[in-house]
This record gives sequence, structure tokens and C-alpha cells, in this order.
Amino acid sequence: MERITEINAMNQRAEMVRRQGRTIGLVPTMGFLHQGHLSLVRMAKAACDFVVVSIFVNPTQFAPGEDLEDYPRDLERDEALLKAEGVDVVFFPSPLAMYPQGSSTTVSVGEEMTRRLCGQSRPTHFNGVTTVVAKLFHMVKPHQAFFGQKDAQQLSIVRKMVRDLNFDLEVVSGPIVREEDGLALSSRNVYLSEAERREALVLSRSLAFAREMVAKGTRDSEEIILGMRSLVEKAASARVDYIAIVDPVDLKPLERIEETALVALAVYVGKTRLIDNWLMEEKNVAHHV
Ligand code: PAF
Repeated sequence: MERITEINAMNQRAEMVRRQGRTIGLVPTMGFLHQGHLSLVRMAKAACDFVVVSIFVNPTQFAPGEDLEDYPRDLERDEALLKAEGVDVVFFPSPLAMYPQGSSTTVSVGEEMTRRLCGQSRPTHFNGVTTVVAKLFHMVKPHQAFFGQKDAQQLSIVRKMVRDLNFDLEVVSGPIVREEDGLALSSRNVYLSEAERREALVLSRSLAFAREMVAKGTRDSEEIILGMRSLVEKAASARVDYIAIVDPVDLKPLERIEETALVALAVYVGKTRLIDNWLMEEKNVAHHV
């Protein structure tokens, strides 16, 4: 596995692979990899000839006071994991290479999507994400880019950017990977104390509860959200940031669940903000009812 840190070198490598007629798969990450990331790497390996995993803790998607400095990092371990998966290139640019002095252009899909859900408490976050992802797309030139369903809003926003800016690539999503007890994998789970780790299960449990309500025929979003909220609030260290039921494409709130819906929530467990979601597809409704 090759480690590339220079943007020019990444560009040249990508161009060479494309000239050889081989397809490139990109898995963008911020490192501190877990099985969720590795499941995307495996999807990329199965679908593409050449796989690049980027590791870049992107400063522009953290607001002042968020955990940019504390964000967990372990390049050595990440590289060992990626090598074992047969990844071709780990792309590890420096913050200065990514954002040279004077760099000021940003990419935004607009407030309609970026100020909802997580955007209420993280209003600048998604502009940082779309800016860095657009830059990574230019640098790595992927045919397919792989994102986890766990960050459902990010996925919808990246898909919108790709449509709006005519990026010639396919965005592929991978399912949420969970611990055995249901907790969705996240690099931020390491912040949780033992007691918080137990209480963090209220996220996946409240989604299971939503699934049950839908299975029993409840369609009213408010009723489902109220039920989820009272379940989450039973955990002493949990504080709801939001619980929402929205259209997964444009993220607009749905009053009723009819066909496809995204049930999403963010909860502070102690000081750690965790997110989780359930993408309810038409076939689920048909199956449950
Ligand atoms: O999901 C993440 O890890 C990040 O938001 C991403 C897509 C790598 C952009 O920095």
C-alpha cells in the first residue's frame, strides 16, 4: 500500500490509473477507523479496480469549541488495517496542503439542507464537509465514492452536491454497522465512559421502538417522535438534540410516514453527541403492515 501526502502526486496517480482503464473507488474518512469504515473499504474493493482511502481530519467541518483537537487519531493502526484490506493508496494530505494560505472558496448546497437536523446545532458543519469532499473528488478522481448511511444527512447532502455540480461519479452508501448490542459504530464512541456507553443504547432502542410503531400501523410522525423522546429521556445522561422524520432526499420534515422516510436523531450522552438513524424504505412499510 502506498501512502500519498502530496496533492500533485495523488492527482498523477489517479490520472495514471484512469489512463490504464481501471476504475477508482474512494472511501473518504477522518481516520481512527472502525468496522463501519472497513465495510465501506470492502464494498469499494469489490466494486472498483483501485481503492483510495483518504484520512483527513477536516478542520473546516468543526466549529470553534468542537472536538477538532481531541478527535481521536491513530495513523499507524489505520494504515495496518487498510493494508490488511488490500487498499492501494492511503491519501493523507496535511491541513496546509488541503487549505493553503489564502484558500477561501467553499462549496455549499444551501441552507435548506444544511441547517436542518444536525445543521441546527452545527450550522457550518456541512459546508466544511461539501468543500473538502469536492476537493477530494478533484484530487482522487473516483468513479465511485463510498459513504456510510450512519451519517445520513451528510450522504443526502453529498448526493445533492454531486447532482448540482455534475460530478461524474457515483455515490454509493453502505449500511450502518453496529456493535452486538445495537450501538452504531462511531469514532466518537471512545469518548463515552462505561456508564455512558450503556446509556448510549437509547439511540438504537428508540429507533427500534419507531420501527415497532410503524409495524403496528402508526404513521403520524409526531406520535412516533414523542414516543422516541420519552424513551431517550429515561437515560440520566442523555439529552436530545433532535429527533426528526424527514424525506431522505431533500430532508424536509414528513408529517406522516407513507413510503420512504428517514427517522434520525442526535443525542448528547454526557458531553458526547451521538447520531443514529433508520432509513425506512417503501419495502419496509409493505413488509411491516
Ligand atoms: O464522514 C466523515 O468522516 C467526514 O465527514 C468526511 C466525509 C470524511 C469529510 O471530512
